This record gives sequence, structure tokens and C-alpha cells, in this order.
Amino acid sequence: MKKTSMLAAAVAVSIAVPAFAQTYPTKPITMVVPFAAGGPTDIIARIVAEPMSRTLGRQIVIENVAGAGGTTGITRASVAAPDGYTIMMGHMGTHGAAPALYLKLKYDPARDFAPVGLAAETPIIIVASKTHPANDLKEFIAWARAEGDKANHAHAGVGSVSHSTGILLDSILGTRPTLIPYTGTGPALNDMMSGQVDYMTDQIVNLVSQINAGTIKAFAIATRVRSAALPGLPTTREAGLDNYEVSAWNAIFAPKGTPPEIVAVLNDALVKALDDPDARKRLDELGAVVPDATGRTPAALQKLVESEVARWKTVLTQATATAKP
Ligand code: MLT
Repeated sequence: MKKTSMLAAAVAVSIAVPAFAQTYPTKPITMVVPFAAGGPTDIIARIVAEPMSRTLGRQIVIENVAGAGGTTGITRASVAAPDGYTIMMGHMGTHGAAPALYLKLKYDPARDFAPVGLAAETPIIIVASKTHPANDLKEFIAWARAEGDKANHAHAGVGSVSHSTGILLDSILGTRPTLIPYTGTGPALNDMMSGQVDYMTDQIVNLVSQINAGTIKAFAIATRVRSAALPGLPTTREAGLDNYEVSAWNAIFAPKGTPPEIVAVLNDALVKALDDPDARKRLDELGAVVPDATGRTPAALQKLVESEVARWKTVLTQATATAKP
């Protein structure tokens, strides 16, 4: 290729890419976490943000914006300038279950974002306070059915992972507990540890250390195989509940209209973070399931969102229909 045509091609590309994208990032980046600090979304965000900041050469600053099952923070981030300086950590609740539970959701998970990449899948565990009378899943199910609305079931707001997976469990068990909302399962876990609420379904990364410390009870993990992070914890199927298998995921999104060149820079930083030895060790210890290369692309995340929105619409329509009046 002649030098002149190479120069022309280079100039053409530089004109096609917005000027600000050519030098991105030149200042700190805000990552909105739509739940209270200390919960699973916050935990995963902070684990990946640190190596991402190193790769990008600019600090990723976490901003916790809680409320309405994560939809408050996601709504705010979805209308931020699409310049790469506001991103968000969404998940199976905010970008999967929420449309089935909010008639007037202010965003469409499949259309109003530039997907950056999947950070981790997070198996769901049924947990209860240390003083809970049940000592295994069968006893828990009998207790839940006997307690009725006297059972206090914690979650992180309508449409959150703990809410959607929790009402799914309740509908399968045919129970109708009192639902207690929190701004995240970090605060919910604190209240469960002090015995103020009875149980919840939460993401493994929020629970491993408490389960190992014996400060909460865990009855089963809702995956087909056990987690290497909790080898002694039976699956729901092993524990006698064979129709409750559910897992969540956490992923990074940017506002719709973010230039693909910026999305590519962010995706590269996320992919490197997932292979960062310290970050990977932490994620593995907490029971997170890190996606392989094919699962890390923006296109793979877009497909995941579309399939999850459809799946949870079906699941939750049935769950809310069968819930006891
Ligand atoms: C959290 O970070 O608090 C959780 O993701 C909340 C939830 O979705 O249950």
C-alpha cells in the first residue's frame, strides 16, 4: 500500500473516531453501583475497578446510588453523557428481571445501553439467620410453610436479584412471607446476622465469608453442581428441592450512544481485570464464576440481556400468578 494511501486511511479513521475518543480516558471514570455499599454488586465492582483503573491509567470511582431494586441508579446512569466517563454495574435484576416487575421502568435493558462486558456469574444460596430453627433445607421448607406471613424474607428491592430469586423460591414453596426490602443485600445481611430477618436468597460473593464463619446458616446452593468455594454446601437438588436452580450475573454497561471505540477500551480493561491474578483469586474465593473469552464480549452481553429479560418475564409472570392471594 503506497505511503500516501496509508496516510489517507489513517486520517480517515482519525476523522471517523470522535476526537475525545482518541485520547480516552483523560479524567476519572464514575462507575454507578445501584445498591448500597458492601453487597454483591459493590463487591464485584470494587474487585474489577482496581485493575481496570490501572489498565486505563485513570481512577474508576465507585458511586453507590441505591433504591427501587437497583433501577434508580441504573436509570440515572442510563441518561448520563455517552462519553465513557459514566459506566454502571448492572446485573440479572436491573437488566433482566426488572421489566417484568416495573410497569413504567424508565429504561429498556436491551435498547438503552452500550453493553461493555460480563464480569461474573454469581450462584444463588438460600441463607438464614444463625438462630433459625431449621438445620437443613427440608426443615427450612417445613418451617416456611408453617410460619406463613410471620416469616420475614429480606431482599434488596423489587426487581433485585434477591427479590426476583426470592419470590421465585416462595412461589415454588407455596409460601407467602412478609417481604422486607433493603437498599442492598449488604444491609440485609447485617440484619439477618442480628436475627432481625429470617432468610433470603443472595449471591454467593456476599455470603462465603459469613457462611465459613458460621455467622449465618446456608441450606443449599441453587446450581446444578456445588461451588468449589463452598464444597460442603449441598445443591438444592441434593437437599431435596429439584425445581429451584437459579444463578445471577453482574455486568458493566455504558449509556447508549457511547462510541464503540470507547466501549472497546473499557471492555479491554475489564477482560484484563478478570485475568488479573489478584482479582481472579478474590473472585474465585468468593465463588464467582468468571466468564471465558467468548462470554466477555459486548455482543455476548447484549445476547444475555435479551435472553434474560425474556426468561424472567416468563418465570416471574408464573411466580406472581401462583403466589398465594
Ligand atoms: C446487592 O448488591 O445488594 C445485590 O445485588 C442486591 C440484589 O440484587 O439482590
